[in-house]
Amino acid sequence: MASQDDLFKKISSHCKEYGFIFQSSEIYDGLAATYDYGPYGILLKNNIKAYWWKSMVQMNENIVGLDAAIFMHPTTWKASGHVDAFNDPMLDNKDSKKRYRADVLIEDYMAKIEAKIDKEIKKAQKRFGDAFNEAEFRATNPRVLANAEKMDKIAKRLATAMTDGNMDDLKSQIEEYEIACPVSGSRNWTEVRQFNLMFSTQLGAVAGEEGKLYLRPETAQGIFVNFLNVQKTSRQKLPFGIAQIGKAFRNEIVARQFIFRMREFEQMEMQFFIKPGTQMEWYEHWKAYRLNWHKALGHNEEDLRFHDHDNLAHYADAAVDIQYNFPFGFKELEGIHSRTDFDLSSHQEHSGKKLQYFDPETKESYVPYVLETSIGVDRMFLATMSHAYTEEMVPDSKGGERERVVLRIHPALAPIKCCVMPLKKNDENLTGKAKEIFNSLRIHFDCQYDDTGSIGKLYARQDCIGTPYCITVDFDTLEDDTVTIRERDSLKQERISINKIAEIVKERTDMTQLFV
Ligand code: GAP
Repeated sequence: MASQDDLFKKISSHCKEYGFIFQSSEIYDGLAATYDYGPYGILLKNNIKAYWWKSMVQMNENIVGLDAAIFMHPTTWKASGHVDAFNDPMLDNKDSKKRYRADVLIEDYMAKIEAKIDKEIKKAQKRFGDAFNEAEFRATNPRVLANAEKMDKIAKRLATAMTDGNMDDLKSQIEEYEIACPVSGSRNWTEVRQFNLMFSTQLGAVAGEEGKLYLRPETAQGIFVNFLNVQKTSRQKLPFGIAQIGKAFRNEIVARQFIFRMREFEQMEMQFFIKPGTQMEWYEHWKAYRLNWHKALGHNEEDLRFHDHDNLAHYADAAVDIQYNFPFGFKELEGIHSRTDFDLSSHQEHSGKKLQYFDPETKESYVPYVLETSIGVDRMFLATMSHAYTEEMVPDSKGGERERVVLRIHPALAPIKCCVMPLKKNDENLTGKAKEIFNSLRIHFDCQYDDTGSIGKLYARQDCIGTPYCITVDFDTLEDDTVTIRERDSLKQERISINKIAEIVKERTDMTQLFV
């Protein structure tokens, strides 16, 4: 069985071995923090995006879609604050020559203190059994209290330094906590300095600052600059939202966690335009709505949590992350931000064009406030894989047990919904019938035909790519037009008639079940 420590490595090698994710430009030894999605990866990724789109656009009559260009007028990024403030504090270790984010080093240090608290709790849980009261233990145990207080102090000091852009204090904190480079083990650090995360390129043949273009670091700005175009053409009244899925680019300093932090990634963002003063009501609404979206996928409740931002971004008056318990601990999966009228007002100012809404009820014009939900497709992919990857013991055909790897991906997101396989690959009657069944199913959903091994081997392969149903064609099929359908998680097998396969698989793998 995989321990938490090596689970992450196993997931990334599984992704490669089974055609989900490859290192970009691998034959040239790869390009750091960029990845390509393989045949099963792209299907899973598309299903994640379809689930988000259905939930946000199809199920909300006041949310419409947009697909804005990646390149935008350079003033966009001045107005949004990204040119001046989209920075991360970085420093180098002089011995290993590795570059780090100062805030991430401090956060990792806090995670170690949190791990100590968790260890203490687990120990007590074991000791007291059913009588254990975690809340009371947290509130009274002196060691837990001391560590919690320490963490709280560090979090507050970090937030202040980040909000104030105080690089000297970040350096002092790293020194005071005696944080060492994980590679060299030394505490020989450079000063901390600001590093802008935007990638830039040149427009056509225009050289220098004048032709400088940025690759968008978030999709949101494409929505803001189109606010009036969309509002007028879709005849929406406030409150209404604009949703978009698209690529974003950030020159991340630390990019060592597989697809968790990439330099080219995809975002699913929705900006909800509201009347000023109603932002807290909508903030609570979207927090609950988005958490339910995750929960519907069957994630363990304890693997999802809200985490209020300690230091707010330049545009926000409230912000929370939905964190997921990745194999390397709780980290941000999605952000929900109350962005006030910062972006629209700033674009109005920089462009000289009015970006206001005329309220037909109050007969007033005003710049709307914005509530944003923003989730990375790739991070959602990693959360899905982390939840799905399972090593378990199952009964074998000889009455004993065997270990299997299975991806318990929710059937609605699974890349392949079912695989049709003949019991014997050298029997033309069986292969012919199985192919005929496969051809009748492929129009309904993504499915496969496979006759390249024994049934046991074929089942194992489908488990590894998370296929919820396998259909076996045997000699009885030729007599009575029935097949065996095997369910991935329970391993239950049922005999069903051929003309019911499409209906059964469709019903059990359809996305609608995520909305009941
Ligand atoms: N428009 C708001 C915004 O971009 P963010 O918290 O910087 O907010 C939103 O990013 C989401 O985008 C994050 O919650 C995360 O899922 C994803 N994301 C951000 N940076 C990423 C990166 N370097 N690699 C992969 N996903 C990333």
